[in-house]
Amino acid sequence: MTSAVRDSALAASIEAFQQRIERTLDHELRADNPPTSRLCEAMRYSVLGGGKRLRPVLVYLTGQAFQAPLLRLDAPAAAVELIHAYSLIHDDLPAMDDDDLRRGRPSCHRAFDQGTAILAGDALQALAFEVLARPRDQPAGGSSAEQRVLMLATLARAIGTEGMAGGQAIDLEAIGQALNAEAIERMHRRKTGALIQASIELGGLAAGLAHAAAYPALRAFGAEIGLAFQIQDDILDVTGETSVIGKKKGADAALGKPTYPSVFGLEAARALAVQHRDRALAALQGLGASALRLRQLAYYVVDRAL
Ligand code: IPE
Ligand code: IPE
Ligand code: MG
Ligand code: MG
Ligand code: MG
Repeated sequence: MTSAVRDSALAASIEAFQQRIERTLDHELRADNPPTSRLCEAMRYSVLGGGKRLRPVLVYLTGQAFQAPLLRLDAPAAAVELIHAYSLIHDDLPAMDDDDLRRGRPSCHRAFDQGTAILAGDALQALAFEVLARPRDQPAGGSSAEQRVLMLATLARAIGTEGMAGGQAIDLEAIGQALNAEAIERMHRRKTGALIQASIELGGLAAGLAHAAAYPALRAFGAEIGLAFQIQDDILDVTGETSVIGKKKGADAALGKPTYPSVFGLEAARALAVQHRDRALAALQGLGASALRLRQLAYYVVDRAL
């Protein structure tokens, strides 16, 4: 991930956050008991098997920008990655995108079986909310009960019918259809943008920003980089290499999925990704120096090669 990050200080903090979230996720997935060991193994396989960890990085960078103690950010950071991992397992199932490769390895249902993959997704979603709800005894100041309820509600909203699940439903219905610009934007904002936006919101909520002027600005930033991120994902399905992106190149076209390159053409898709990145940057204008790292990260979203 950091090879496409322009600023070396940002790259260093991303690497530190990636290592930090790896430890937290490993810890949260340690529970095992013999009757469910295949399920637990599938969960560990999917969560700990690589990935850029963008969503946890967003939680950390946002929280840190507004002085939230890092210890308080571990739970929301883990929660968004657990949700993301669940979404990828289900996204790859034969009933959805039918993808055999994920993060350079067999997708969960190929490494295990479809039933186990469905359950691993279900259990990861449950674990995400458990981790987020759990009170923590932290001397540096854990999140308050009110903050946790706000984070739970924010995450739940982002992944339901108005967010990820709704976006995925539109995606399935759109196969073989010619979507117009408005419809594809709506699909992408929901299926991918909503969780990326929520990652930034959770960082802000953990920093106590629920009623601050910065909060709507962060939300707008999140929505725009979330959309830019999925546009770039569509572009990489055309221009990327399977060995680099860790998933089968050309899978969208093979399935007849409407994507930004298929609807607008590659060059216009690139221009739209940049346009939404610039809107994201504009949203941060009033936030001054505290938002420096988030500004830098916005460039990565469209510069990335995986
Ligand atoms: C892939 O997400 C699925 C989308 C929502 C576009 P990422 O590109 O963040 O996947 P990993 O976590 O790095 O594997
Ligand atoms: C994934 O979109 C969106 C979610 C998982 C919610 P894609 O289907 O484009 O993601 P990839 O390309 O398989 O990673
Ligand atoms: Mg999909
Ligand atoms: Mg897919
Ligand atoms: Mg894709």
